[in-house]
Amino acid sequence: MDLRVIAAIVLLFSPFKIEGQANGLSFDYYSKTCPQVEKIVRDEMNSFYSSDPSTPAAILRLVFHDCQVGGCDGSVLLDIKDKNHQQEFDSPKNFGIRKRELIDEIKLKIDTVCPQQVSCADILVLAARDGVAIAGGPTIRIPLGRKDTTVPHSKQEADVGLPRNNVNLTKAIQVFNQEVGITLEEVVAILGAHTLGGTHCDGLKERLYGNDTVVPPRNEAEFVNYLKKTCPKDGPNQFTTTFDLDPTPRSFDNKYYVNILNGRGLISLDAEFARDPRSVNIVKRFANDQEAFFQVFSSAFAKITTLGVLTGNKGVVRQKCSVLN
Ligand code: HEM
Ligand SMILES: *[C@@H]1O[C@H](CO)[C@@H](O)[C@H](O)[C@H]1NC(C)=O
Ligand SMILES: *[C@@H]1O[C@H](CO)[C@@H](O)[C@H](O)[C@H]1NC(C)=O
Repeated sequence: MDLRVIAAIVLLFSPFKIEGQANGLSFDYYSKTCPQVEKIVRDEMNSFYSSDPSTPAAILRLVFHDCQVGGCDGSVLLDIKDKNHQQEFDSPKNFGIRKRELIDEIKLKIDTVCPQQVSCADILVLAARDGVAIAGGPTIRIPLGRKDTTVPHSKQEADVGLPRNNVNLTKAIQVFNQEVGITLEEVVAILGAHTLGGTHCDGLKERLYGNDTVVPPRNEAEFVNYLKKTCPKDGPNQFTTTFDLDPTPRSFDNKYYVNILNGRGLISLDAEFARDPRSVNIVKRFANDQEAFFQVFSSAFAKITTLGVLTGNKGVVRQKCSVLN
């Protein structure tokens, strides 16, 4: 067959052609209105990183929490001062969320060059993507064109939309798959985000003291006892004592998988991956092959950051990320 015909057929059936367009996003969205946007975000993230190398962790968790509650629409950045209304951010499931103000800072920089063009939702996704790369992880291509919500989400929506800290594998597969068609392999890869950052005792209390706590096998028991000693039930240090989620919490690498195979997974799901027959071989593969992890993480990240996006006139470009227009 003629090569051009093959090329045409490949193009016709290629999933990449559809990707990023079915949901109204595109890779060249700002090419006319703000061609510098990606460089500005990258420069800002580099500068934040040099003053605080834990920045990528904060922003990566932030984008997940934004997307998980009403879609990737910048809602988690809102700070609505209203004593009678509990907002999304007030959900205890957002405990530990840090550095929301950095997105406003990046927005300010962008708006001096291309005022009122770039949404907070897009800036947040780009900043998270850049944080991953700056910390040593993969460079991920991200389609753009998300708009910001004009309607704040409630505390209740966040309570329901964000995962419980002891969510199990069955539930996690189900939720992620229903939301954005994420595969089991991608679930294991996206939780590799826990290669960055840390958890407070608070994040472990359901694992350590909850009613549906799974009894940990062999080498994990000792570790769990150590965690219980360090984080006593309802202890005064719940919101102060922290643990790194893997031994290299500033590097986006595959040490998370090595660590959980050693029975040192902190969040329940982290620990479960390493012992569940459905996931353990994927964990072993990622522990041995960082490139494989990076590849699957990238496709999972691209999927979760298109969750429930608002495009066209369904949303707005906010003037300030923390307040509605
Ligand atoms: C779905 C199940 C998940 C559960 C149960 C979970 C739970 C947690 C908990 C309890 C913490 C500690 C928070 C604290 O005490 O400050 C944490 C931190 C973190 N999570 Fe997750 N997470 C999940 C999924 C994800 C996903 C999908 C991502 C990103 C794509 C992510 C990224 C992070 C990051 C980067 C941190 C460190 C934050 C920091 O150091 O400030 N997590 N997670
Ligand atoms: C997983 O969690 C769900 C609730 O979220 C529960 O109904 C189910 O029984 C749990 N499955 C296992 C295997 O523990
Ligand atoms: C666990 O069970 C006890 C007794 O049944 C109950 O009082 C408590 O609220 C439960 N804790 C959680 C976290 O569900």
